[in-house]
Amino acid sequence: MDNYEKMIELAQSAMKNSYSPYSDFKVGACLKTTSGKYFVGTNIENSSFGASLCAERSALASAVSNGEKNFEAIAIVSSSNNFCPPCGICRQVLSEFGDDMKVILAKSPKEYAVYNLSELLPHKFFEGDMK
Ligand code: THU
Repeated sequence: MDNYEKMIELAQSAMKNSYSPYSDFKVGACLKTTSGKYFVGTNIENSSFGASLCAERSALASAVSNGEKNFEAIAIVSSSNNFCPPCGICRQVLSEFGDDMKVILAKSPKEYAVYNLSELLPHKFFEGDMK
């Protein structure tokens, strides 16, 4: 059971808490662990723009802080009418925990597209490249 609709609803709920006074672009994310738990995140901006945190990394920080490191999928929603693909930094950070994760880009619980993280981030930089 993939539960993508539930994940999208949870991401939409988290998006309501977005702190995005600079871009006025709200993003919500919901990560599902392989053990079936859900962790949400939203984007948190800062007056020093580079210090802003994306919703995906916000969800990941919450999950890892709660002892989770194995993920099945992440759903991402935004306040625009378009899909919100994860930025390059988030792709790299998510891939630290596995390339098999599904990435669900959603406009609503009924309208979404599913990708594999590995197809969104081919040829990623990884630990083996430092040897
Ligand atoms: N943002 C995310 O939260 N996730 C993405 O994948 C793309 C961008 C946020 C960061 C910033 O708060 C706003 O969207 C505009 O870039």
